[in-house]
Amino acid sequence: MTDVIVKLPEPILRMQAATVSNFGTAELKQIVADMFQIMQEKQGVGLAAPQIGISQRIFVYGFDSSARYPNAAAVPKGVAINPEIIWGSEEQIDREEGCLSVPFKRGIVTRAKSITFKYQDLEGKVLEKTLHDFAARIVQHEIDHLNGILYIDLAKEVHDSQLI
Ligand code: NI
Repeated sequence: MTDVIVKLPEPILRMQAATVSNFGTAELKQIVADMFQIMQEKQGVGLAAPQIGISQRIFVYGFDSSARYPNAAAVPKGVAINPEIIWGSEEQIDREEGCLSVPFKRGIVTRAKSITFKYQDLEGKVLEKTLHDFAARIVQHEIDHLNGILYIDLAKEVHDSQLI
């Protein structure tokens, strides 16, 4: 079976993803359900729609435990559509991160420790959430995906890793 995860150098990973305008549809619900399933199967902590070949502004995140980030505390699951960061803390943190679309690599990326982001849910309702630490990092990484940015563009260094 071919891997459903789109990897570098597929051009879709470098595209600006399209804004979602139809909410509450069976199609949107199916995309999000598929994304949660794939994220869990791949031990992802977040997954953006372009990573499964869908260039739309949707991401999912959250995990109980992840073999890819064994030291990370659980993050509650969520879905965000048309997300936008509206506040980031001045305090920044360096941490190693990876990406299913850039397998077997890791790099240290500096990101805001805390963020507030605005997004829509499956029904189109506009919501806001403030997250900290690893959860905030995941959201920043996934929103970057929707703008064609990969963590390797931001990392101080990128090295080979045994973990995907
Ligand atoms: Ni990624």
